[in-house]
Amino acid sequence: MAGMTISKLSKMKASRDKIVSVTAYDASFAKLFAQCGIDFMLVGDSLGNVVQGQSSTLPVTVEQIAYHTEAVRRGAPDAFIMADMPFMSYATPEQACVEAAKLMRAGANMVKLEGGDWLLDTIRTLVERSVPVCAHLGLLPQSVNVLGGYKIQGREQSAAENTVRQALALQQAGAQMLVLECVPSSLGQLISQKLDIPVIGIGAGAQTDGQILVMHDMFGLNSDYLPKFVKNFLADADDLQSAVELYIRQVKDGSFPGPEHTFE
Ligand code: KIV
Ligand code: NA
Repeated sequence: MAGMTISKLSKMKASRDKIVSVTAYDASFAKLFAQCGIDFMLVGDSLGNVVQGQSSTLPVTVEQIAYHTEAVRRGAPDAFIMADMPFMSYATPEQACVEAAKLMRAGANMVKLEGGDWLLDTIRTLVERSVPVCAHLGLLPQSVNVLGGYKIQGREQSAAENTVRQALALQQAGAQMLVLECVPSSLGQLISQKLDIPVIGIGAGAQTDGQILVMHDMFGLNSDYLPKFVKNFLADADDLQSAVELYIRQVKDGSFPGPEHTFE
């Protein structure tokens, strides 16, 4: 979408206009997504899985994210592009500044970091130095070795309350968006209501302010395992463009994600 900005995305939340997002890793798909009217794109560290064939996102480096961000930027000059800060590239606020600068120079409009309380200082530091930040709570793929697998998060009352508290703290620290991954839909709804910033869900139910999918999942290109929240939009479309347009339409009209894609 031409000239998308963080303030336009915030206004979409206020007017209950659903935000539709997808990951992108190269210029050709970025161009297609921009033409279809995707609201913003994420150069996700999921590129470790879907581009590199790794079994987790941990091997991905800042240089690789920067390389793909440059490609996406060339394909979609006017798009709002978020870039993931990969594993261990933001261990300290100082390191986060050095590494985030590489992604901003590569063409990102915003960087995304996984985690809660331990990131508050880092987010304040980045935002003060003019790097917009998206936070990421719920399932944190960079923490897969701590979590013991890719599992739904925030099911227990105490975990849900803790996630709400951390989401508010991240917003207070200056985060301007939040990605919420793999939580019960009731928690997705509660956090979206409590926060002023847009909450973008993946496996977080239909009540978040927007949705994001890994582009390969949107096209049904899943090799081994199929998460519950994923839908193959190409199955009901004649070509790639129609599939993207169907995804956008179904998020905007509230029909995706449906109950079958949602954790209760
Ligand atoms: O890397 C990624 O693709 C992501 C999305 C799943 C939100 O972080
Ligand atoms: Na990611």
